Amino acid sequence: MATIRSITAREVLDSRGNPTVEAELQTDDGTFRSMVPSGASAGVHEALELRDGGSRYMGKGVKKAVGNVNKIIAPRLIGMEISDQRSVDKVMIELDGTENKSRLGANAILPVSMCVCRAGAASEGLWLYEYIRAMGGFGDSVLPVPQLNIINGGRHAGQENDIQEHMIMPVGVKNFAEAIQMASETYHSLKSLLKERFGARGTLIGDEGGFVPPIDNVRDRLELVIKAIEKAGYSTREIKFALDPASSEFFYDGVYRIGEQEMQSGEMVDFYTDLVSSYPIISLEDGMAEDDWDGWIELTKKLGSKIQIVGDDLLVTNTKRIQRAIDLRAANSVLIKPNQIGTISETLDAIKMAYKAGWTAVVSHRSGETEDSFIADLVVGATTGQSKFGAPARSDRNAKYNRLLRIEEHLGTRSKYGGTI
Ligand code: PGA
Ligand code: ZN
Repeated sequence: MATIRSITAREVLDSRGNPTVEAELQTDDGTFRSMVPSGASAGVHEALELRDGGSRYMGKGVKKAVGNVNKIIAPRLIGMEISDQRSVDKVMIELDGTENKSRLGANAILPVSMCVCRAGAASEGLWLYEYIRAMGGFGDSVLPVPQLNIINGGRHAGQENDIQEHMIMPVGVKNFAEAIQMASETYHSLKSLLKERFGARGTLIGDEGGFVPPIDNVRDRLELVIKAIEKAGYSTREIKFALDPASSEFFYDGVYRIGEQEMQSGEMVDFYTDLVSSYPIISLEDGMAEDDWDGWIELTKKLGSKIQIVGDDLLVTNTKRIQRAIDLRAANSVLIKPNQIGTISETLDAIKMAYKAGWTAVVSHRSGETEDSFIADLVVGATTGQSKFGAPARSDRNAKYNRLLRIEEHLGTRSKYGGTI
């Protein structure tokens, strides 16, 4: 049993060089630090990320959020019992008092919520993943099948009107360490193919560590990834594809626009159906825009029995939107990003709601990340079986993969790999 002795926050930098919030919490067991990530293609229904505006850091400063932790959140939480995550989160939700955490900012609330979880784990002498598993009442810990974004596009690469993420999923392996090896070898094979074809400029990378080659057609990009898989000595039996078009970014007044091509909702669904019949795609995230509910329903009807249909901007880790999608059969999987909703309790609620409906859940990073590896413990503890943490490159991404390697070792023979996909 431990209580909160102090909480402070500071402004630090994320992987894109933008300010973000780090919170620091003390109990008798020690000091616990947590940082929040930040999206570039954020959904309009997400909890609010509070930015200062003005000229400092191009308006992206987070001094207001830092001040909210120090002056509003800390005084209320000091003395509270660390093991009661839900009560602490509830106090912060009530202090904020808005639907989307716009008064204090999700970037003020979440790092404190994460620190409370870390301190709770320490007070019981548990690894963070073990503590999350126990707190949520989840089953056996599972190492995730990673979705690795090896070709970046769209907003993550300074481009418009194109597919954002081309991911590989090593499904045909026994454990996570093998999956990462396979992914890394494929990543490096892709790099050498790109260098052969385009020279050094073909190997430039985007926000999530994947390459940004000058190839303007999704089919040509996927063909090249297949070549990379084969060059690395594998096949599409063991390595499947996942796509995140992040289509809200190319949806204008009811029309989807990819390059020069303009498509209505139904045509967009046909576009994906063709892609899925040509390539080993097993997961499609944000194929439709965040408020195109009819489009989502049509997509799920057409492809939902064959592949995973993941809602990110559509659902924003929010149980109200997830419930609506369950009722409408508008998806069959939810992307889980803690900073879309703002507390750990609500994040776990979203995961549980998905499970109850027979859906899958994929725990995800943001394009702007930090060295904080909380989500690695979250994915194992919440037993979702799938992660989305970027390419196997750049330390903001590899902080998560390296943590998963440590967890796999810690679990030893109790370790399980793989999702329900
Ligand atoms: P974001 O993108 O972190 O830039 O919002 C990630 C995603 O769309 O999944
Ligand atoms: Zn997404």
